[in-house]
Amino acid sequence: MKYPRGGGPLARPLEGKVALVTGAGRGIGRAHALALADAGAAVLVNDLGGDFRGEGSRDATPANEVVERIRGMGGRAIVDTGNVADWESARGMVESAVSAFGRLDIVVNNAGICRFSTLDQMTPKDWDLQIAVNLTGTAAVSHWAADYWRSLGPQPGRAIINTSSPAGTNPVPGSPAYCASKAGVAALTIAAAAELADLGARVNAIAPMARTRMTLAVAAHEDALKPVNAGFDRVAPEHISPLVVYLASERCRFTGRVFGIEGDDLFLFVGWSAAHHINNGRRAWSTEELADALSEIDPQDRGFYIAPSKRIAGPSPSDQTLTTLERIGTKY
Ligand SMILES: NC(=O)c1ccc[n+]([C@@H]2O[C@H](COP(=O)([O-])OP(=O)(O)OC[C@H]3O[C@@H](n4cnc5c(N)ncnc54)[C@H](O)[C@@H]3O)[C@@H](O)[C@H]2O)c1
Repeated sequence: MKYPRGGGPLARPLEGKVALVTGAGRGIGRAHALALADAGAAVLVNDLGGDFRGEGSRDATPANEVVERIRGMGGRAIVDTGNVADWESARGMVESAVSAFGRLDIVVNNAGICRFSTLDQMTPKDWDLQIAVNLTGTAAVSHWAADYWRSLGPQPGRAIINTSSPAGTNPVPGSPAYCASKAGVAALTIAAAAELADLGARVNAIAPMARTRMTLAVAAHEDALKPVNAGFDRVAPEHISPLVVYLASERCRFTGRVFGIEGDDLFLFVGWSAAHHINNGRRAWSTEELADALSEIDPQDRGFYIAPSKRIAGPSPSDQTLTTLERIGTKY
């Protein structure tokens, strides 16, 4: 327990609020549910079960254990085992939270899956499942929450926190569908923030990095994700959740933003800002003029690269891509 009961400046920041957390049976979502409950929120703990690839049989055990843990802390929680990618199940989550706790203030879209497969090797199922769970799942739950909030009219203190990824903000080779789904989550966050401001809802996203079964499945992450025996275990999933509690709380001053977080490192991303602007004097560009104008620009010049998983990511994937293109003789 981090927050003392009974008021004062350190009073629990989410007292009286109701939160819905998807994929909250394990990993980062579990840490969010516990942190939100500790901060005073009643929590609907959603989790379908299944493995990190979106396969395997459904299992309510992890979600039930989180609910029991919250109740053991003196908090309020209920379980939901719906699939975020199913629009009716997503509607059911919002309805269950409202019917159990009388309101809904906070949505944490955390449920996600990852199926490592390159563009040439991926199956339609690899693409469809990742887009369905990671992107449609985020949109569906947010849609029903927004629909519910719209039915009540504006009220301050509402928040949606989405889960993008360093792979969405700075895509890497090896899982293009995952990268695209998480970049989509970042774009959805910005659009939703603009749309829902008039309902008093802030919408932000996090791009986390932590040790979970999903990241442990990537051999390249193995060393970076080892637990430390003494000192600060920077990749423990619970280090992500204070940011989610902040983004859910009324102390949060941001909307439509994507925050990177890994251990003690916090980042605020600025996505897709133009590095150059050239105007062609009220004439359409010809291909030749475009080629001449662009030949003046350094292809590496795009601001600076940074990712929460910097120990893993190393040099920018864009740099690596350009180097690879150069090596095989592509002119750019
Ligand atoms: N672990 C990391 O470093 C990392 C990095 C970037 C992004 N993320 C994102 O963070 C989120 C949590 O990942 P994690 O690492 O804790 O993974 P995890 O596999 O440990 O947990 C994900 C949880 O989501 C649940 N889930 C999956 N599909 C679902 C569905 N359709 N409906 C409801 N629940 C579903 C799973 O049962 C699981 O309990 C994901 O969105 C992931 O893409 C994680």
